Amino acid sequence: MYFASCCLLAILIALSSAEPLRIPLHRMRSPLKHLLANAHKPEYKSIINHLESLKGSKNTIPLFKFLDYEFYGNVLIGHPGQTFKVVFDTSWADLWIPSILCSSMNIACAFRNKYDASKSSTYIPVGKKYVRDLGEFNLTGKISCDLVHVGQVNITNQTFGEVDSIPWRDFLFSKADGIFGLSFDTLATDGLTPFMYNLIKQNLIEKQIFSLYMNRDLVTQKGGALLLGDIDEKHYTGNLTYVRVDPRTGFWEIPVDNITVNKQGSKPAQTFCKGGCMSIIDSSTNEIRGPPDEVDIINGLIGARRFLFGRSTVDCGTVQTLPHVVIQIGGLPYKLKGPDFVQKMNYGPVTVCLSSFTRYETEGPAKWTFGGAFLAKYYTVFDMEQFRVGFAPARL
Ligand SMILES: *[C@@H]1O[C@H](CO)[C@@H](O)[C@H](O)[C@H]1NC(C)=O
Ligand SMILES: *[C@@H]1O[C@H](CO)[C@@H](O)[C@H](O)[C@H]1NC(C)=O
Ligand SMILES: *[C@@H]1O[C@H](CO)[C@@H](O)[C@H](O)[C@H]1NC(C)=O
Ligand SMILES: *[C@@H]1O[C@H](CO)[C@@H](O)[C@H](O)[C@H]1NC(C)=O
Ligand SMILES: *[C@@H]1O[C@H](CO)[C@@H](O)[C@H](O)[C@H]1NC(C)=O
Repeated sequence: MYFASCCLLAILIALSSAEPLRIPLHRMRSPLKHLLANAHKPEYKSIINHLESLKGSKNTIPLFKFLDYEFYGNVLIGHPGQTFKVVFDTSWADLWIPSILCSSMNIACAFRNKYDASKSSTYIPVGKKYVRDLGEFNLTGKISCDLVHVGQVNITNQTFGEVDSIPWRDFLFSKADGIFGLSFDTLATDGLTPFMYNLIKQNLIEKQIFSLYMNRDLVTQKGGALLLGDIDEKHYTGNLTYVRVDPRTGFWEIPVDNITVNKQGSKPAQTFCKGGCMSIIDSSTNEIRGPPDEVDIINGLIGARRFLFGRSTVDCGTVQTLPHVVIQIGGLPYKLKGPDFVQKMNYGPVTVCLSSFTRYETEGPAKWTFGGAFLAKYYTVFDMEQFRVGFAPARL
């Protein structure tokens, strides 16, 4: 029954032509912004203290990662379609959304759109549990299968985690309901197929690629666009330069030659990631994470001081004149200036300027991750057929 209905739908959909699918991304107030804006309120004090106490322990990385989600796109699941705001995350493979089975007593579920399988005529039960161990907490629920509408097409037989327990407080995921992973399937929880694989298998896109444009203009709600199956030439200048990735790691992980910070005045530039290192491209956060000792020096060079949640702040008046950070990839320089790697945020009545450089404690081979601070400056193409990532300067 399950296989038959999934199969029939797949054949019907495959008859439609393959066009690139554009998913507009919207900017939301990230959980971090929400926390900062409310940090003076007593009820947030305990949450902040708790997060602070977790800082630095390895298994809290996913938790801190969720703090910085800023972009989401809309998807529909089921028939008739139920709307969800999801974060498209290149460093994660699973799809998950909250379930109607998640009690509203669970604060994390109370303010979220929840999937109701009983209202979907295309729902197919899978009969497996979904458990994703995130260290500090687990996402749990069941695996479900339904129609998923992204861009302008419907993916059939899409499995996802229908999560009924998000054991954390409401603000953590803020306005996003769930996550759609864009990494390789080696990172997927058993029984789940990342949606890009289904788009390819069901012939819904022409090229096995997706590309990401992030809008750097902070005053608009427009966050950019995710294009599935194609490259949008109007969003970059010059030529795309590609570097290889090794899909066995599951991540969009690239080799970096080195990273230099040009100290002002006559002092020589300081070099990090000396002799090369690996970095994961991560669309889910604004941060650039690196080895703690190196990040501490970089933050020192830009005059940043320790703040909350493992972040550091710089004096907002210095942003325009901060030293440049140059990331060498494949023999080419990718330059980031102060306004690229500093995020402005309101902290109660004051504005803070957060450095995007944060400490990354990992045992994995990739010691760095490049998030929005890099991706907003450089348009990025993720090629799943030739296992490579392409960059070119983004055009607003
Ligand atoms: C549907 O998805 C499941 C799990 O990913 C897979 O085992 C099954 O073969 C798929 N069926 C069809 C018809 O594609
Ligand atoms: C795709 O799914 C949505 C939501 O269920 C539905 O309204 C729409 O008609 C479907 N489109 C196609 C082409 O099947
Ligand atoms: C998460 O689930 C795993 C089993 O998959 C379990 O071993 C672990 O203790 C759970 N962690 C928490 C924080 O509940
Ligand atoms: C892009 O590549 C083309 C063909 O290789 C070359 O002619 C052109 O000069 C390049 N443009 C830039 C901006 O590098
Ligand atoms: C950084 O890497 C580039 C190659 O991309 C190399 O030419 C340069 O000498 C390196 N710089 C340092 C300081 O190691």
